[in-house]
Amino acid sequence: MNLFKNFSWGVTTAAAQTEGAYDKDGKGPSIWDEFTKKSHKIKDKSNAKVATDFYHCYKEDIDLAVAIGLKIFRFSISWPRVIPEGTGTVNQKGIDFYNKVIDYCLIVGIEPWITTYHWDLPQKLQDKGGWANREIISWYVAYVAVLRDHFADRVHYWILINEGIVCIGGGYFLGVHAPGKKGIRNFISGTHHLLLAQAEGFKVLKQKEGLQVGTAISCTKIEPYRNTFADQKAAKRIDTLMNRLFIEPHLGLGYPIDDLPILKRISKYYNEGDLEALKTDFDFLGIQTYTREVARAAWYIPYLGALQVKPKKRNVATSVMGWETYPEGIPYFLERFAKYDPEKPLWLTECGMALSTDEDDQERIEYYKKVIQGMKAVLEKGIHVKGILLWTLVDNFEWAEGYIPKFGIISLNQKTLQRKMKKSAIWLKEYLSNMNMK
Ligand code: GAL
Repeated sequence: MNLFKNFSWGVTTAAAQTEGAYDKDGKGPSIWDEFTKKSHKIKDKSNAKVATDFYHCYKEDIDLAVAIGLKIFRFSISWPRVIPEGTGTVNQKGIDFYNKVIDYCLIVGIEPWITTYHWDLPQKLQDKGGWANREIISWYVAYVAVLRDHFADRVHYWILINEGIVCIGGGYFLGVHAPGKKGIRNFISGTHHLLLAQAEGFKVLKQKEGLQVGTAISCTKIEPYRNTFADQKAAKRIDTLMNRLFIEPHLGLGYPIDDLPILKRISKYYNEGDLEALKTDFDFLGIQTYTREVARAAWYIPYLGALQVKPKKRNVATSVMGWETYPEGIPYFLERFAKYDPEKPLWLTECGMALSTDEDDQERIEYYKKVIQGMKAVLEKGIHVKGILLWTLVDNFEWAEGYIPKFGIISLNQKTLQRKMKKSAIWLKEYLSNMNMK
């Protein structure tokens, strides 16, 4: 039996990491444009003013994806390119750009998928508090309605918000991502508003018939350091934060307060009817997973009472991100999420590994072989997974890590912007073409 018969392969990209053209054709500044001005926040002191110049090179990139045999091209819309001030006037030139991307995908025969929000909030909205301001629900809804009205005639698959935990955790709690805010109040309010915004955004998109609308969830396998009650409880708190907080309220399960008591504070931000409003019957769930983390109890760490035991200390191999490469997390999370609702289609909407090398990326090939192996095991069990989207096509701006980690299957010469298929892209091309012949 060909397990991959009704299964699709594609790639995920994101505007802030690829487009460049940061102030071109009326685009407003995003929080990442602002954040990268503080060069000490970015490991190689770089920024994304040019990035991979997808704004000008989109045809070449889409052609490359097609040449490899990929069938889905997931990209995100830059909110400040479409609505420079965040609310109000729509920038026609921004709309024109995404129309060109969508139309080109359709011409060359690859399905465009849209992510409405992959972390590049308009700076103007951050000036008003960003995700910590409840008004963002209406700002986001108005933005999503603009996207629906312009693009939903041709784009059928939509992902609302990419990885809420990373967006709010990195940007509003730890301060390591834009907008660089810290603290529990920002985190708690940002979480609640982001989830409410996503739930409302879902309703706005579903006003148009025939759309498949989902979300993309960051998942990290968490294990206790020692087999003690305290470490197990610590691991459970971290698991709740990382893997449950941004999905269970949508599934009607409420906030997982019992396993992460600090979440009690969310009730301070509740309006009447909020818990009901959060319930969202997504058409599919997107799982994204890269690594595994180990937690141990640490009573002196505020809110979480837990500490991460770094991979280096555990003597496991790490990628250039400092992460343990862990493709085993893929079958684990697909099975785990299928338990919420076995009927709900799942997609692996991101997976990948970072290397510091350019073209000879044999390690990445080994990684993808393991991904395929894990996927086969899951499909054999009858779990409803519909496809894999790789992270990512072309080496790009990896947020606070700058251009150091290279996640692409295509390399980029940053001076000439020349693209070149790596060994992994050539391997994948062959793999996909063999599969199609079966
Ligand atoms: C995801 C994120 C991507 C990319 C990737 C690799 O969390 O959605 O934008 O950065 O991780 O770190």
